[in-house]
Amino acid sequence: MNKLLVLPGDGIGPEVMSQVMRVIEWLSRKGRGEFSVKEGLVGGCAYDAHGAPLSDETMAEAMAADAVLLGAVGGPKWDNLPFASKPERGLLRLRKEMDLFANLRPAVVFDALVEASSLKPELVKGLDVLIVRELTGGVYFGEPRGIETLPDGTRRGVNTQVYTTPEIERVARVAFDLALKRDRRVCSVDKANVMESGLLWREEVTRLHAAEYKDKGIELSHMYADNAAMQLVRKPKQFDVIVTDNLFGDLLSDCAAMLTGSLGMLPSASLGPLDDKGRRRALYEPVHGSAPDIAGKDSANPLATLLSFAMMLRFSFNMDDNASLIEQAVQNVLKGGLRTADIMQKGMAKVSTTVMGDVVLRELDKLA
Ligand SMILES: NC(=O)c1ccc[n+]([C@@H]2O[C@H](COP(=O)([O-])OP(=O)(O)OC[C@H]3O[C@@H](n4cnc5c(N)ncnc54)[C@H](O)[C@@H]3O)[C@@H](O)[C@H]2O)c1
Repeated sequence: MNKLLVLPGDGIGPEVMSQVMRVIEWLSRKGRGEFSVKEGLVGGCAYDAHGAPLSDETMAEAMAADAVLLGAVGGPKWDNLPFASKPERGLLRLRKEMDLFANLRPAVVFDALVEASSLKPELVKGLDVLIVRELTGGVYFGEPRGIETLPDGTRRGVNTQVYTTPEIERVARVAFDLALKRDRRVCSVDKANVMESGLLWREEVTRLHAAEYKDKGIELSHMYADNAAMQLVRKPKQFDVIVTDNLFGDLLSDCAAMLTGSLGMLPSASLGPLDDKGRRRALYEPVHGSAPDIAGKDSANPLATLLSFAMMLRFSFNMDDNASLIEQAVQNVLKGGLRTADIMQKGMAKVSTTVMGDVVLRELDKLA
């Protein structure tokens, strides 16, 4: 039985998650997968209930689960809490204690939404890029760090970009393994021309590729981060899998997200190390936040969370068929002209969160 922890969170989190729960029930009803689902609190709602954005019990549930599906956290109600109690700290605790070092951000353009991109349709039609970002190392965590006042009274801010061989190797391995299931092309992005940590990155990725993945037909290329940013908006379809460090990944994944045109459509996954049962810790969540401006109005787009669940089926539960089925259902619903408000286009029919859930289920019934 696949053990799943669901953390709907705050704002639109519970609304979009309830549509995913309907799909989980549908899969069970159709005999396509058995899930043992537990629900917990994270973010502001957890603070209201327990005085902390993630309780120790929920953290333990997350460690015991095969995978965690999260909605979103945060909202104005909790904006003025002390730093340690802020809703985001719940999410950061999950990421830290689960040691989620690889962040996967697919940028997929659905045919029906090709006009929503900021780029010309011919540049993005059929786009399917996966960005693998190192998430727990690099300049956001490196020591020394801080702001100091120098003897002459001026101030100096310091952050350290630092990577070790194991850190580079484990994230590169995730990227190569994912490429095996895709078009078998990995582009490693760094600044090896001006940064020693980038040079090490390039050397280690090259070494791992030669030792373990070249023979499996994986093609490896390298690109400087500035060029990669340019190429992503110039000719995005040249990429299959991009693997890069924390800082460059932060920028490039947001840049790639815009190629698809809508926050309400973007899923993500964060993967950790293999545990002693050979299971990889994993957290799946939409890229968007809790959208307090539309919370409670039944108008949020549930598809990013549903597509995050599809990623879970593919990467944590080895259920590629179910994942593809859900993705196809989403394609068909969009092709049929139904849109939530965030992706509304002229001539299409605007539907609520619940109705979007209804039509996805109807489409699943047709496809299965
Ligand atoms: N991972 C997370 O949980 C996460 C990520 C980002 C922001 N946040 C938190 O969310 C709160 C709001 O942040 P924000 O406004 O900067 O970002 P946001 O992603 O919540 O919203 C940005 C805009 O996009 C819209 N939007 C987002 N998701 C949507 C969806 N599924 N369907 C339709 N429209 C959608 C919102 O209505 C809003 O206009 C803050 O408290 C922030 O800290 C949480």
